[in-house]
Amino acid sequence: MGKVIALANQKGGVGKTTSAINLAASLAVLDKKVLLIDADPQANATSGSGFDLKKVQTSIYECLIDDADPTKIILNSEIKGFDLIPSHIDLVGAEIEMLNMPEREYLLKNVVAKVKDDYDYVLFDCSPSLGLITVNALTAAESVIIPVQCEYFALEGLGKLLNTINIIQKGLNKDLEIEGFLLTMYDARLRLSNQVVEEVQKHFQKMVFETIIQRNIKLSEAPSFGKPAILYDADSRGAVNYLNLAREILQRNEETRLKQKDKVMDK
Ligand SMILES: Nc1ncnc2c1ncn2[C@@H]1O[C@H](COP(=O)(O)OP(=O)(O)O)[C@@H](O)[C@H]1O
Ligand SMILES: [Mg+2]
Repeated sequence: MGKVIALANQKGGVGKTTSAINLAASLAVLDKKVLLIDADPQANATSGSGFDLKKVQTSIYECLIDDADPTKIILNSEIKGFDLIPSHIDLVGAEIEMLNMPEREYLLKNVVAKVKDDYDYVLFDCSPSLGLITVNALTAAESVIIPVQCEYFALEGLGKLLNTINIIQKGLNKDLEIEGFLLTMYDARLRLSNQVVEEVQKHFQKMVFETIIQRNIKLSEAPSFGKPAILYDADSRGAVNYLNLAREILQRNEETRLKQKDKVMDK
């Protein structure tokens, strides 16, 4: 059964989509089966994974609103093991349509339930908002990755996000964990970048991933070719950084799994 992880931060441009695509690709290259669900009406994860938005006929929108079967709309990317449920601009309207639906916070969870047995990891690329669709993703997820850009005001807005996570943990999803804070767009030459790393590490300590994603032009070029960095330029720093992140996540989750197993054996 797959582990469901949401990539969320209501701030735009911090690296959510870049991280979602490249983490999904890296996990797949490491032999995991990964499903990326694009939960942003801008559909950047869909186009960046190599799919022509004009050709997307059925998207996550229809799964939410019309109860479409998600297994029927899964797209296979160029990388074996990396699949996608696409988004569509229509998703903008979904929030309003969802308002009057029963169990409106659990709609994505129900979608995920139909697909997660086929995958090792299910990732959500969230939109830059804390609206109902993001709440749905956080309700469906077991954990959340929070990308933090090494820029001015990096910590700004994190309080609000953590507060939302807290509220969800109290009601909709008691088991939601923070998988980690991910520092993105790091530039070693800039004092500011180093200050942000120090500040975030001081604040969130062990919750910060050891892997730091550097600023790398290949990461910003790759989406216009519809490719994850690992296909666009496998030796690029960006591709290597995300492969290391995937390894770190696999290692941590393997350790937790073994610990849980020990606990069960002790009983
Ligand atoms: N590590 C990086 N190095 C260089 N450019 C990056 C990096 N991460 C993201 N970008 C670029 O920054 C912009 C915002 O990133 P994106 O992943 O779309 O953020 P979000 O999904 O949080 O809005 C995009 O143009 C993307 O290509
Ligand atoms: Mg995005």
